[in-house]
Amino acid sequence: MDGTLHIRPAEDADAEAISAVIVRALREVNARDYPIDAIADMVAGAGPEGVRARLAARTVLVAEAAGEVIGTAGLERTPKGAALRSLYVRPDAHGRGIGSRLLRAVEDLARAEGHAVLLVPASITAETFYLRHGYAPTGAAAADTIPLFRSLA
Ligand SMILES: CC(C)(COP(=O)(O)OP(=O)(O)OC[C@H]1O[C@@H](n2cnc3c(N)ncnc32)[C@H](O)[C@@H]1OP(=O)(O)O)[C@@H](O)C(=O)NCCC(=O)NCCS
Repeated sequence: MDGTLHIRPAEDADAEAISAVIVRALREVNARDYPIDAIADMVAGAGPEGVRARLAARTVLVAEAAGEVIGTAGLERTPKGAALRSLYVRPDAHGRGIGSRLLRAVEDLARAEGHAVLLVPASITAETFYLRHGYAPTGAAAADTIPLFRSLA
């Protein structure tokens, strides 16, 4: 993976590539922390059709290098506030700051819309990543995620 990293809004034509990034991350990385059935459910929801549905419901960003989509993250407006959804980086590109750049891009987007707080239903796998970025537990209970939040002030 060479080339400058470029973060841009996703288009419908990116659905297959976004799906491939998410499925690889689920199978190669999240599978260390979740039972095989849970991963299978998440993979089933992360196909191109599932991604297209999310493109219609959220603002989705992609990180692109050398013409390839290697990461994605979304901003969802929920009744409880702005939420970061589906932050995934292709496993062979982990640890190079791409996840942090996508996280900052979603934070900037939410702040620009006037949101004071960003919620994150974090995967068990990425909890430490978010804690390092200043997120803290909301105290709410959830089944497969750890509800975190950060002030955008
Ligand atoms: C979480 C994720 C998006 C981070 O992407 P990334 O591009 O590797 O992130 P960065 O390179 O910006 O940051 C990596 C840093 O976080 C740390 N980190 C990344 N994933 C981590 C994890 N699962 N647990 C602990 N630390 C982690 C790395 O050690 C690294 O720290 P360093 O910079 O001090 O070396 C990526 O690991 C991923 O796709 N995980 C699987 C999917 C997932 O769970 N996404 C979150 C859904 S809520």
